[in-house]
Amino acid sequence: MAYEFGLIGYPIEHSLSPWIHKQFMQKASVDGSYSIIEINPRENFLEQMDQLKNRNLHGFNVTIPYKQKIIPCLDEVSEEARKIGAVNTVLNQDGKWIGYNTDGVGYIRSLEGKFPNLVAGKDKRILLIGGGGAARGIYYALVTAGFLQVDIANRTEESAKEIAALYTGAETNILTLQDAERQIDAYDIIIQTTSVGMKPEQDISIISLDKLRSASIVSEIIYQPLETKLLKQAQMRGASVHYGHTMLLYQAQYAFEIWTNKKVPIEDMDDQLQLILEGR
Ligand code: ATR
Repeated sequence: MAYEFGLIGYPIEHSLSPWIHKQFMQKASVDGSYSIIEINPRENFLEQMDQLKNRNLHGFNVTIPYKQKIIPCLDEVSEEARKIGAVNTVLNQDGKWIGYNTDGVGYIRSLEGKFPNLVAGKDKRILLIGGGGAARGIYYALVTAGFLQVDIANRTEESAKEIAALYTGAETNILTLQDAERQIDAYDIIIQTTSVGMKPEQDISIISLDKLRSASIVSEIIYQPLETKLLKQAQMRGASVHYGHTMLLYQAQYAFEIWTNKKVPIEDMDDQLQLILEGR
């Protein structure tokens, strides 16, 4: 049997997902294809989804701007995706569309891949910077993985509060970005989830890390550029860094697992993906 997968979103012509999933198919020794299905926001989304149902793909990924819009078109939504409020992976199970969100789990896997004993030590103090969709997914994954202290700093306090109110189980303080900067030495792991520092505005960073301890880890979800200004600052202070592109690989690994029940090893793809991104 040959699998048929795809990606819906706009604009997605430069997406790395086809490359990633083709590698996965080779590694798992399965036949298949992964198509880019670009849907212009001017088109009627529900009509497009009806047409997509007729294509009978085994599964597809969903990206901006449709991660929320897809939800009414689904037959079931996983608890995780429901809590996060966004779907990035759909499984076609005998004609039924089931929605998942693999971003949070993908993020935790990528962190564990780089720092193997981190997730076991739940006493770590974490600072999450940002209050958008990515912050939501990562917060949910951190809390369900058992981390007990996850503070949130965001420009807009309200969205940080909304994230903290969604789940119980962790102690969460809401901070301004200025507070975060002042008390950065209190954190073991700092996770940057905003778009600040992304190309073409790579000369800025969301906060300054002047007070960072060298024992801390600074993690970034931006991967263009690979080395953001924030990560450069962290390295200058002797701290460990975690690059954004690895999350991309691991969220895809989890999606592929949902579609095929096969978990492919991906460690060797890290360097290849870095080369691709550096060439852009
Ligand atoms: P995503 O779904 O990818 O996380 P998003 O929902 O647009 O994207 O969220 C973007 C995040 O970047 C938010 O935390 C946003 O802060 P606000 O909640 O205050 O809007 C943050 N962000 C974007 N530009 C920013 C800027 N110039 N300064 C500070 N924060 C910024």
